[in-house]
Amino acid sequence: MRRWATGPVTTPPDDAAPASERLQKVLARAGFGSRRACEELIAAGRVQVDGQVAVLGDRVDPMSAAIAVDGVAVASRPGLVHYVCNKPRGVVTTAHDPQGRPTVMGLVPPEPRVFPVGRLDLDTEGLLLLTNDGDLAQLLTHPRHGVEKTYLAEVEGVPSPAALRRLREGVDLDDGPTAPARAALVQAAAGDRTTSAVEITIHEGRNRQVRRMCDAIGHPVQRLVRTRIGPLHDARLAPGEWRTLEPREVRALYEAADAAAAPTPPGAAGSRAGRSESGG
Ligand code: URA
Repeated sequence: MRRWATGPVTTPPDDAAPASERLQKVLARAGFGSRRACEELIAAGRVQVDGQVAVLGDRVDPMSAAIAVDGVAVASRPGLVHYVCNKPRGVVTTAHDPQGRPTVMGLVPPEPRVFPVGRLDLDTEGLLLLTNDGDLAQLLTHPRHGVEKTYLAEVEGVPSPAALRRLREGVDLDDGPTAPARAALVQAAAGDRTTSAVEITIHEGRNRQVRRMCDAIGHPVQRLVRTRIGPLHDARLAPGEWRTLEPREVRALYEAADAAAAPTPPGAAGSRAGRSESGG
């Protein structure tokens, strides 16, 4: 069982935060329900602190304690922020662009300082997480965790059932075959319309993966929008808008990363280990 990953947290500790808090209060803030409900979780033996089963009355330092519920890590530090934004086309997913193009950092509040989780191409739109939660970022971008991401691709022409099957079963790219994916035609070109819409869900994060998959089946992408990251979706967020994630959404992302981290035997064919997460 994983379960505690450490990673860089760029925000300094909140000096005003109390050194120790009741465990149920920390759990409630992290989205596990009311304090009463959290007391029940503790009493049921489902909460661990630094690897030990917690008991009612325990106090923790949320800045340093490794808290888990049912073995899944909990984001407990008070200074953590988690944003989701709808990245517009033409915005780069880096903290700074030497060419002076707009970056995703300009879409969210400057303080506390956050960083993007994974990457979307300059021309790709859609959901992008930004956070100072190094643990979550590391889990979501680590190839072993392979959280699913869904894209709506507007492609040239109408992919045949055989072409869609290739997307699902894996296409040969220059950096190796793609893992099984989901792909469905959601709107076919018709009349004056020369493009179709294909929904594609992948759990790898290779560079320009969806575009290259569509090129490989002969249907180049005209427009690409990420519509889902694991359990997270938000069709109401307009391009350029952002919002703070609900604690339950943060928890669901931790759980999704945890569930996706099925152990893969070393050296197994199709192993996800060792692949780079550059797209997303
Ligand atoms: N796949 C792509 O081709 N581009 C992205 O930005 C993300 C996934």
